[in-house]
Amino acid sequence: MAMLTAKLSSPATNWITGGHSSAGARRSAPARRATLIRAAAGSYADELVSTAKSVASPGRGILAIDESNATCGKRLSSIGLDNTEANRQAYRQLLLTTAGLGEYISGAILFEETLYQSTTDGKKFVDCLKDQNIMPGIKVDKGLVPLPGSNNESWCQGLDGLASRCAEYYKQGARFAKWRTVVSIPCGPSALAVKEAAWGLARYAAIAQDNGLVPIVEPEILLDGDHEIETTLEVAEKVWSEVFFYLAQNNVLFEGILLKPSMVTPGAEHKQRATPEAIAKYTLTMLRRRVPPAVPGIMFLSGGQSEVEATLNLNAMNQAPNPWHVSFSYARALQNSVLKAWQGRPENVEGAQKALLVRAKANSLAQLGRYTGEGESDDAKKGMFQKGYTY
Ligand code: 13P
Repeated sequence: MAMLTAKLSSPATNWITGGHSSAGARRSAPARRATLIRAAAGSYADELVSTAKSVASPGRGILAIDESNATCGKRLSSIGLDNTEANRQAYRQLLLTTAGLGEYISGAILFEETLYQSTTDGKKFVDCLKDQNIMPGIKVDKGLVPLPGSNNESWCQGLDGLASRCAEYYKQGARFAKWRTVVSIPCGPSALAVKEAAWGLARYAAIAQDNGLVPIVEPEILLDGDHEIETTLEVAEKVWSEVFFYLAQNNVLFEGILLKPSMVTPGAEHKQRATPEAIAKYTLTMLRRRVPPAVPGIMFLSGGQSEVEATLNLNAMNQAPNPWHVSFSYARALQNSVLKAWQGRPENVEGAQKALLVRAKANSLAQLGRYTGEGESDDAKKGMFQKGYTY
């Protein structure tokens, strides 16, 4: 009991026993000490907790702009621009220098290139973010590859060298990280793919925490398929139970993580659409059954929903208090209007920044449960789902 009190009052020296307590009680004192293991968060525990709280602060969410160069190329080509470093920089500059963004956005997930880039005037993007009290984050996974022995499923690479990369990213100013793996319902999912996804996320989370970065844990359950919403619920419960099992086994500090789940919806090709109220009900049911209240924030991905749909669904989830901050970490559902307004023209930058603020504010209101959906354009209501979409 004395040990438990010490552990709770001092997360920075978070030591836990490796064995079962009754077995431990039978051992001699030196033998018991030999089985002590250190929690992943190590000396960063206090900082991780405060970083996660800052990202999960009321009325704010995450701007996800961590597209790899290849995926950023898809965004740029949608408005007829070449995928050059200068165009990627111009696009990220537009987003990250938007005045007033920090009121609605608490964190921005960057790709490695952007973390080390500056504006055309030479100001580091990381400093642009800090000036607005927005935490810089970094995508650390190395993408998906086929998983041999599975049902055409994939696994996520990036554990080799991850500790040293995280340490470097921390020095550059990053304070949280993202690792996205996927689970496909039409492919099964197989027990192997779910286990691999969960184990990879847990190893990554422990390594990120050990190097001062709050891990965003993202097992994206893809929208692809014609299944019922109940099927998504069943798969999501299975996936999150394995994720939390392995997070616990890896001694990850739950107070210092953030989750990035998919909302529980019917498959994108299902004959009937679900209402925001139904999506909120199923999604919150899944979260209440699987996510401990120690976790500070749930930051949903948009996954191909239209901008308005993603905002309405988030709003529906915030109609009553939740044990966690329930918010957004959208890429497509924040960027689509911006790209359309910008078209790669310098004279449109101001208009594009206004479009970003409109979306950011709408989602901020949805985080507070106060979004009405009034005055939205038809463009913002257009779905962005693409079958087999890859990041
Ligand atoms: P979407 O909101 O486009 O699904 O992006 C999610 C994501 O993981 C990007 O970080």
